Amino acid sequence: MPQDRSPLRDASLGKAAAYTALAPYYDRILAAGYDYSALGRYVAGLISAYAPAARSILELGAGSCPLAGHLAYPSHARVVYSDLSPAMLAASSQQPGLRRVAADATALPFRPGFDVCVMLMDALNYLLEADAVSACLGEAFAALRPGGIFIVNIAGDALCRELLSDLAQEGSLAECDYAIRAQYDPASRLLRTGFTFRFCSATEGDPVLRETHTQRIHTAATIRELAGRTGFEIAAAFDGQSHNPAGEASREIHFVLVRKA
Ligand SMILES: C[S@@+](CC[C@H](N)C(=O)[O-])C[C@H]1O[C@@H](n2cnc3c(N)ncnc32)[C@H](O)[C@@H]1O
Repeated sequence: MPQDRSPLRDASLGKAAAYTALAPYYDRILAAGYDYSALGRYVAGLISAYAPAARSILELGAGSCPLAGHLAYPSHARVVYSDLSPAMLAASSQQPGLRRVAADATALPFRPGFDVCVMLMDALNYLLEADAVSACLGEAFAALRPGGIFIVNIAGDALCRELLSDLAQEGSLAECDYAIRAQYDPASRLLRTGFTFRFCSATEGDPVLRETHTQRIHTAATIRELAGRTGFEIAAAFDGQSHNPAGEASREIHFVLVRKA
């Protein structure tokens, strides 16, 4: 007889909004395979180079706040972690004392004056249309003080073609088995990722929960143009986590945008 491993009840089974089902497992399924220590060091380096006196930081699309545990931000800085998904912010509860605010990056509720705004690990790619990217850039601009910086990354077309054209992966956690299926369409630059969670249950059969994520792999030229129109100066567009200029073949780009006065 299988053990009842399901944390779910009937009402919550079926199809979930992006990050509702994934949230409790994100750290173990996706974040666990990523080197956040290296990303934390990289972000800390960018902040010390471009905003050395930073005292207030706003992270957008912070998810389960993995950067909080990886020395990305100066120890004396006041950091606000925000994300569209309350479930993702709740998943960071093992890190006590974090200031967490559920907020849509295209319509932020914060008072202006932050020294640094950060949006990493493809969160911007969830904004599918140029209008939404523009709205996010505008909100970040408004949240920053004049001279403040916005550090934002995008995944590159090259990375998606190489790793995500047709990815299928399966695994097991204590609570459930899961499957991931990613498909990237270079023509539309849309990346669709499906997550399926199968919970063993003695009483309910094998309940299944699914959610689908859709992302757009924006071009560097689009981000440059929209950022410029918002009033940002493009201080840097780095290839991956380097300090070399990004190019067409970059698998990931980190932009440092400066809010002009
Ligand atoms: C791939 S996760 C990255 C999370 C985190 N930055 C990290 O490094 O693990 C993308 C995040 O973007 C968030 N997101 C998607 N659309 C958003 C929006 N409009 N406003 C704010 N956050 C958004 C999702 O909820 C999710 O937590």
